[in-house]
Amino acid sequence: MKSNPVIFYLNNEYIECYPETPYVSVLDFLRLDKELTGTKEGCGEGDCGACTVILGSLKKRKSGFELKYESINSCIKFLPSIHGCHLISIENLSENGQFLHPIQQEVKKYNGVQCGFCTPGIVMSIYNLFLNHTSANKNKIEQYLQGNLCRCTGYSPIINATKKILKKYNRDKDNLLIASKKMKNHLLEIRKKKPFPSEVPKNLTTLKNTIKEKKNFTILSGTTDVGVSVNRDMVVPPNPIFISQIDELKHVKYRKNFISIGSSVTYSELGNELERFYPDITKYLVRIGGEQIRNMGTIGGNLATASPIGDMLPPLIALQSKLVLTDCDSRKRTIPIENFFVKYRKTTLKKSEFISSVEIPYPKTGSVFSNHKISKRRDEDISSVCASFYLVLKRNYVEEIKLVFGGMDEVPKRAKYTESFLKGKTWCQEEVLKAADNLSKDFSPISDARASKEYRALIAKNLFKKFYLEKFEGREGLKRNEQALR
Ligand SMILES: Cc1cc2nc3c(=O)[nH]c(=O)nc-3n(C[C@H](O)[C@H](O)[C@H](O)COP(=O)(O)OP(=O)(O)OC[C@H]3O[C@@H](n4cnc5c(N)ncnc54)[C@H](O)[C@@H]3O)c2cc1C
Ligand code: FES
Ligand code: FES
Repeated sequence: MKSNPVIFYLNNEYIECYPETPYVSVLDFLRLDKELTGTKEGCGEGDCGACTVILGSLKKRKSGFELKYESINSCIKFLPSIHGCHLISIENLSENGQFLHPIQQEVKKYNGVQCGFCTPGIVMSIYNLFLNHTSANKNKIEQYLQGNLCRCTGYSPIINATKKILKKYNRDKDNLLIASKKMKNHLLEIRKKKPFPSEVPKNLTTLKNTIKEKKNFTILSGTTDVGVSVNRDMVVPPNPIFISQIDELKHVKYRKNFISIGSSVTYSELGNELERFYPDITKYLVRIGGEQIRNMGTIGGNLATASPIGDMLPPLIALQSKLVLTDCDSRKRTIPIENFFVKYRKTTLKKSEFISSVEIPYPKTGSVFSNHKISKRRDEDISSVCASFYLVLKRNYVEEIKLVFGGMDEVPKRAKYTESFLKGKTWCQEEVLKAADNLSKDFSPISDARASKEYRALIAKNLFKKFYLEKFEGREGLKRNEQALR
């Protein structure tokens, strides 16, 4: 039996299509089916940004639905997952295909183009910034360009062009934003009146029924991990279920004792929500992927992947967060996240279960929380070692301490020996330096392409010392104690 069509808007066109397989990428659809070849394919793995497009999707807020436009990598996004969305390709920017959009004009004027292969992707990333912010400093601009590789031009001309655009052009005059109210109504109509494709459950009840029906299934959320396996390794997981339309999995709720975060909440959304409780986490989150990956990748996907270098795992363990797992019969179990990981990329998730939410406790009075990522490149790179530290002091004695490292073992892990060494001790440089030496009793890291075992061991030690110096002695302390870091 034919599934229901995938329905969405592409630029100004209403689309109903029946993809040959659920794994037709948005990029292939644009280039091969629609012959819109302005969007380029570089790496095919979400790394280079050549395939950047803008996706408008409905986000449920207290006041109703909001249509939010964000950049994504079309090479690792599959057609069923854009059901009910508004897809914008680079062709939509120029008026009648004749006049360049102001962003394109400024990039050209500032010499931000040489071979031009990266340019459509770069323009779309600048467009994403332009749609979502009225002003931005250099750091913010760089953040929005993290996911775009340009081999020729160098970034200065592109950054200068972006500064000019933000200064000179008014968002209120942008055609896409002007028409967004109308588009929101079109999308709401698809959502309310049209049947969903069989592999795209509309809500939790349909998800549970679908899981019950299928013996072997694969849950897909942001597809930033799975998309890479499909494209690079040609691994096609069986019976995909795309969960990105399920509002119940995208909530952020402030409960009495914890913040409940739906498993399909993306990194971009998470950063905005957690900032006021854990300001340190926002700086750490912008080290994950590039803006496109942060707009797609989810907290649930990061946990289920169970990578030893998954960047969200150390902070969540350090905060003693819990995981809510739900099965197809609505049975729930809530477990500490640190008990979820059994061995290398193996979790306690049962066959009929999915991750429904994460519960993050509020910060305790007097607590200090700090997160660190060491990678070969600063931007758009995975960790060699990542670490999160959570400390509660009482009259300068260590009342509670959690030291969690990724990349030091086959799963992200707490340094329990070092933690118990520090518990109850005076929090001072002398004890911290002794404790740092104890980390070798907690971990025996391995060498791989990312880092040698010696490097990992040294980094872990130094990150812990840095935590103490940075948080308790400030920048001056870091300088003064340069020797202690060696
Ligand atoms: C270019 C690039 C850069 C990246 N950079 C980083 C980085 O810096 N740090 C980092 O940690 N990761 C990084 N990643 C990896 C990836 O983005 C994250 O792991 C992301 O959180 C995965 O989430 P997702 O929703 O995209 O998962 P998906 O790809 O949709 O799914 C991943 C796995 O999780 C399962 N799954 C997803 N949701 C659920 C659920 N609710 N219940 C049960 N199972 C589920 C899927 O079945 C699948 O096995 C990067 C990836 C790319 C392509
Ligand atoms: S082609 Fe490189 S990110 Fe998509
Ligand atoms: S202009 Fe050639 S890659 Fe950017």
